[in-house]
Amino acid sequence: MDPIKLQLRSNRPVFRSPYSKQSNPTSRILLYSSISIAVILFCYFLFFSSKIRQNTKYGVVIDGGSTGTRIHVFKYEVRNGNLVLDFTEKGLVSMKVNPGLSSYTEEPERAGAAVAELVEFAKKNVPREGRGEAEIRLMATAGMRLLKKEDQERILDVCRRVLRGSGFRFRDDWATVISGSDEGFYAWVVANYALGTLGGDPAKTTGIIELGGASAQVTFVSNEPMPPEYSQKVKFGNFTYNLYSHSLLQFGQNVALELLRASLVSRGQETGIESLQRGKPMDPCTPRGYSHDKESWKDSPNSVVEKNRYLSALLPNGNYSECRSASLKLLQKGKDRCSYQSCYIGSTFMPKLQGKFLATENFFYTSKFFGLAPRAFLSDLLAAGQQFCEEDWSKLKKKYHSLDEEDLHRYCFSSAYIVALLHDSLGIALDDDRVGYANQVQNIPLDWALGAFILQSAAELDLQPSNWIAFVVSGVGWMVTTQAQYGMLDGLRPLVDQEARPCSALGPC
Ligand SMILES: *[C@@H]1O[C@H](CO)[C@@H](O)[C@H](O)[C@H]1NC(C)=O
Ligand SMILES: *[C@@H]1O[C@H](CO)[C@@H](O)[C@H](O)[C@H]1NC(C)=O
Repeated sequence: MDPIKLQLRSNRPVFRSPYSKQSNPTSRILLYSSISIAVILFCYFLFFSSKIRQNTKYGVVIDGGSTGTRIHVFKYEVRNGNLVLDFTEKGLVSMKVNPGLSSYTEEPERAGAAVAELVEFAKKNVPREGRGEAEIRLMATAGMRLLKKEDQERILDVCRRVLRGSGFRFRDDWATVISGSDEGFYAWVVANYALGTLGGDPAKTTGIIELGGASAQVTFVSNEPMPPEYSQKVKFGNFTYNLYSHSLLQFGQNVALELLRASLVSRGQETGIESLQRGKPMDPCTPRGYSHDKESWKDSPNSVVEKNRYLSALLPNGNYSECRSASLKLLQKGKDRCSYQSCYIGSTFMPKLQGKFLATENFFYTSKFFGLAPRAFLSDLLAAGQQFCEEDWSKLKKKYHSLDEEDLHRYCFSSAYIVALLHDSLGIALDDDRVGYANQVQNIPLDWALGAFILQSAAELDLQPSNWIAFVVSGVGWMVTTQAQYGMLDGLRPLVDQEARPCSALGPC
């Protein structure tokens, strides 16, 4: 230390410790050095945190689902050309409004109001200076796919108007109805990204079976030859993945239940059952004693079938095995038109299932409702569903008093439908443990919107053909999960075209 400086400074009373009248030289040196260290640290943090703020970017994806519209705000950084995603609670936030965009065919303006509400949420989570650069995209799925093209466009146009004025970066072609096979592909990407299998041996990847409200997606690597409309080819790292990806429109849980009930009514009318058995055909998928009168249809995707016409025409008479066979009948419809070697569901092409699978969305919610383990057997679901379906409604209501009645009564159908879909149709054995039920892996949500975001960011950062190293921020720190070279091959369409969580099926808790 420079003694003269010290001497000079010692004359300034400001720097004297107020607690000791006689400050000795050692304590003065200590005081000054700690002040300098504090100043240096302060400057360092100021510099470093502003650098972090500069590097922090945001992306917004609005998922237009059949039962509601959910916005996701992603926080990420680009470090040395690498995409670094933040999966902490602050890094990834979302919000949902009901009902889905597809229910606004009569009044498209109201779709705009719903989107405006979501945009407000995004603004709260993205600082003003980050908004102009942050992209906002709207991708709608099955609920909208079921509408006529003109209706889709009228709703999307209203949404586009809101997004153009949102302050986020937006282009009109960023608000679209995505295809079912893209939706499945995005879900597959996020799952394998989270599992660390993207960029590795295709045979070690995990397939995805998603059960949504209006559609179900099946996506997995297959080495069987496939018709082009069912296949997606994509390259990550040194590997090319031949994916089967298909969306079964109308086979989502809610639409399937509506269709099943409609068919029960019309069958009742055909066979004249109506005149027998207290005048009404039986509904085996609803527990005895349930009354449909109170249903508001708040979550109903759209008027695929007229609801009230048949609801009052059915008598709830829960019977699991009958509900399961009615579900199977629905899934097999059109099988006579199968033009492939075999069809598991309707006349849809599907290769033999290969490898491990994650069953997500309503598969997960149903298994969670019944308290099943993440790697439960279908036989466990069958037993739990049977008990539920055949129980009296008053008892169920008492047991699950905190749940909404309309949501609660559907678990009879979903437990039967899942067994009809996974076992009776796709041939997954009742004691097969290749299928896990999950909605996240570690702390990464298995949401197709995240997969779409990952792919779009990677494409836009122009990470191809250099190595794309994606980091994941977990609760504990930075962690490299994937080292992959990202590129597109023919067959992959342009990418402009997707709660407190319990332990996931595969990741450690
Ligand atoms: C890809 O293959 C090259 C050449 O065989 C090899 O050097 C490289 O490490 C591989 N990359 C990955 C990510 O496996
Ligand atoms: C359910 O239906 C099956 C077949 O119709 C019948 O054998 C069985 O007894 C019914 N179960 C109940 C609990 O009513």
